[in-house]
Amino acid sequence: MCWKWLLVAGGLLAAFSSVAAEKVEFKPGEVWKDTDGEVINAHGGGVLFHDGRYYWFGEVKDRGATSRSGISCYSSANLSDWKNEGIALSVVLADSESEIQPGCIMERPKVIYNRRTGKFVMWFHLELKDRGYEAARTGVAVSDSVTGPFKYLRSYRPNAGVWPMNVAEKYKESGGDEYMKFLRRDLEGGQMSRDMTLFVDDDGTAYHIHAAEENYTLNISELSDDYTSFTDRWVRILPGGHNEAPAILKQNGKYFMITSGCTGWAPNEARLHVTGSLFGKWKYRGNPCIGKDAELTFHSQSTYILPVEGKRDTFIFMADRWKPHNLSDSRYIWLPVTFRSGAPSLRWEDAWSL
Ligand code: DGJ
Repeated sequence: MCWKWLLVAGGLLAAFSSVAAEKVEFKPGEVWKDTDGEVINAHGGGVLFHDGRYYWFGEVKDRGATSRSGISCYSSANLSDWKNEGIALSVVLADSESEIQPGCIMERPKVIYNRRTGKFVMWFHLELKDRGYEAARTGVAVSDSVTGPFKYLRSYRPNAGVWPMNVAEKYKESGGDEYMKFLRRDLEGGQMSRDMTLFVDDDGTAYHIHAAEENYTLNISELSDDYTSFTDRWVRILPGGHNEAPAILKQNGKYFMITSGCTGWAPNEARLHVTGSLFGKWKYRGNPCIGKDAELTFHSQSTYILPVEGKRDTFIFMADRWKPHNLSDSRYIWLPVTFRSGAPSLRWEDAWSL
């Protein structure tokens, strides 16, 4: 063989091995370690893509539900190898008045980037120390740098004193669906906010989606221009649906939301909902999971749907397989979203690649 052919063959080999090296493999449910060899501790999390890197924020779990350290951040270029960036939002150790002191509960953190202010904004579900899940608040924190440290601003019961845009005048006093009794009860002090996610639409408007009305109803609340407060524009959706763990994706102008039912840490059947407008009517479209254990979301609960950068219509469904007796051992279930008849669906894979 002449030397030119040898060079070509060598080049091809190098190209193949670099493609092979870049192939990203996911093994849902297996122990997932960071680049230091430590188990990743980022539960109920979400992922932000910024300046060429992915940032995964999640709950640092010990054995129980309460927070002793705060919200973690990991970063990755390929979604598989995650570098521990430390605690992005820390509990406050030296202040027994702090809402985020050790012993509080911080769940389901999500971080978005605000182009106008250049700040990263984190929202999360906050429960106050020694009060179980009764406070039902949402906390907000900001940072100039994506990995933090985030500065805690405050917590809310959202939309105090403000009626939702989709409740008719005639139902403000009485009547309507039976869950409106909770809406009226909480009108003055603000609506409950437990499981939550954030969604930034194509025009940059951000929305906070949270379980309210004793978890019977989901509320979608628009965030202010700087993403740190609410605008008073909000709707209640799927009243009586008893949904938790909302996760949203947008495709072809439609918004799809996957939620779970409400069975504590135990898995249940996922639900898919669709709408053409976030403040419009949402329709239930059944269980998006297919195959064995589809009725239990493959023993997991949704937390986020991650759009893969630079790959059109490519999304990863992120979920938690909770281990209630030792929550730190809870596993991550990441599965590819496939579209069947124009709607997202999820199929179990022991291992899969992007
Ligand atoms: C289900 C929620 O989705 C979790 O985030 C957590 O709040 C548990 N309930 C607590 O039981």
